[in-house]
Amino acid sequence: MAIRKAVILCAGEGTRLRPLSFCRPKHLMQVAGRPLLGWILEALSEAGIEQIGVITPPDPDALREFVEDGKRWGMTATYLVQPEPLGLAHALDTAREFVGDEPLLMYLGDNALEWSLAQFIKRFEESQAQAAVLVKQVDDPRQYGVVEMTGGQVMRMVEKPPEPRSNLAIVGVYAFQPVIFDVIERIAPSARGEYEITDAIQRLLEDGGRVIAHELEGFWEDAGSPADLLRINGFYLRQLSLELRGVVDAASVVEGPIGLDVGTQVTNSRLSGPSLIGKDSVIANCTIGPDVTIGSNCHIINAQLRNCIVEDDTHIENLPAGLIESVIGRQVRMTGEECCSRPRRIVVGDMCCIEVT
Ligand code: G1P
Repeated sequence: MAIRKAVILCAGEGTRLRPLSFCRPKHLMQVAGRPLLGWILEALSEAGIEQIGVITPPDPDALREFVEDGKRWGMTATYLVQPEPLGLAHALDTAREFVGDEPLLMYLGDNALEWSLAQFIKRFEESQAQAAVLVKQVDDPRQYGVVEMTGGQVMRMVEKPPEPRSNLAIVGVYAFQPVIFDVIERIAPSARGEYEITDAIQRLLEDGGRVIAHELEGFWEDAGSPADLLRINGFYLRQLSLELRGVVDAASVVEGPIGLDVGTQVTNSRLSGPSLIGKDSVIANCTIGPDVTIGSNCHIINAQLRNCIVEDDTHIENLPAGLIESVIGRQVRMTGEECCSRPRRIVVGDMCCIEVT
């Protein structure tokens, strides 16, 4: 049976993304001009998914407002509340009725990756396996689920082992036959108090089930921290075909791919790509980029930004030494002084007012 349904896990609290995640779920953080979840939904739709079950925290409003009924991506959306963050297996179990007796794709809503989901689904469908995971070689696998595999078959799987027996980390994309729900019933919480999907898959293996793995060679990041968000921003900026639709004056210099949306004016500035600036923004006397995303309706005056995300309706003025590796939320007012001599690295939540001295 073909996979038509995907369960997207969006209930995580995003503690390492505070204060940004106080204002909205981490899955809705802006990367390369749209919420991370928007990129994920597009990929799921391209892979032929027709129905999505969005697992939300008890307050689902922000997620519902963005995804609505899913039609924008040609899919239908169902919302399922996970009352407490008790682990990925617990979150998936919330979707038991939504999934019914069908195979499914499970996608962690904070993961960005460079991989054809359609190919992952096709291989799973052809394999007759009970589960499939994506894995990637990482330097320090101790913070991930770790897989031991031979010839594409998973032998063993352990969540965050102190002494990993391989460097293959589990990436946040899984495919399952519905038997996974029977296995979830039989697992106990882990040492960190969570029902781990890794433990469920390991139990499936112990029951004699077949689990396959594909190694991902391209980009993968889960948006745990501001540094992760910036890497994801840089990755997606390079996927976009960027167009200059705003106005750049003759005193400005544009190098590399730059996206400038309608109504935006750039004066006396240097823009280095890849960078993206939304609608109706004003950029004057600035050096911007590379790897910068600025939202709509922003005013950036006399400042330098490199490897930064600045969200909608934000004003930044007089930071000539600039910001690097910074994430600035919505409706922020940030002013510096002409004499600020060193670049700042800063994370600012929505609606803050900051004077940099
Ligand atoms: C979760 C999974 C882990 C996986 C990781 C990928 O970890 O438990 O197996 O490698 O996602 O993002 P967590 O984000 O809960 O620490």
